[in-house]
Amino acid sequence: MSLMSKVTINAGFACSGYELKQLLSLMQEIKEVNLTGEKFELNDVVYYTSRHAERMFYVAIVEGKIIGYVYAVLEGAGYVCLYFLAVKKEYQGQGIGKLLVNKVIAQVPRWKAKYIYSLSTNQNMTDFISHLGFSEGEKLTYMKLKLTDKITATEASK
Ligand SMILES: CC(C)(COP(=O)(O)OP(=O)(O)OC[C@H]1O[C@@H](n2cnc3c(N)ncnc32)[C@H](O)[C@@H]1OP(=O)(O)O)[C@@H](O)C(=O)NCCC(=O)NCCS
Repeated sequence: MSLMSKVTINAGFACSGYELKQLLSLMQEIKEVNLTGEKFELNDVVYYTSRHAERMFYVAIVEGKIIGYVYAVLEGAGYVCLYFLAVKKEYQGQGIGKLLVNKVIAQVPRWKAKYIYSLSTNQNMTDFISHLGFSEGEKLTYMKLKLTDKITATEASK
């Protein structure tokens, strides 16, 4: 039986507590998907997978095991950003990544979005997404401010 016939794609918010823990270890394993370089915690997984009209998280499941995921957000001005996409190493190259991206693309009419952007520092992702028909978008400069004990989020909002 082919792998594709065993795969189901579920919404992240439908994951059980056990599945969320599985997802956390997969997200930690594929650490390059986290642009900030921070280690994922269970709270992050709960946040990303929670039901939200403008966020989408899907998991690919084979025989009860989470083997891949995609996270996308509807940003302002009608575009969707693909932030995380990963397939467990031993399941790569069998169509799962494409299935997950197509799941997000299928939501575009509902979101009335015009574009899907893929943001990544990872060349593998750029090559993959180009293969799926994405072309180079506007150049962005990615800046970050690390909030330390001195500058807290509360102070920054004053
Ligand atoms: C990138 C990634 C998600 C691709 O998922 P995958 O399940 O291995 O890819 P698929 O099997 O669905 O591939 C679909 C198509 O893309 C092609 N493809 C896969 N990886 C590719 C790559 N790195 N470069 C170019 N093409 C690629 C496949 O050959 C296939 O082509 P086809 O449809 O013409 O036969 C997966 O390799 C991965 O999780 N990598 C590690 C984590 C990572 O880098 N994530 C991205 C950062 S956010």
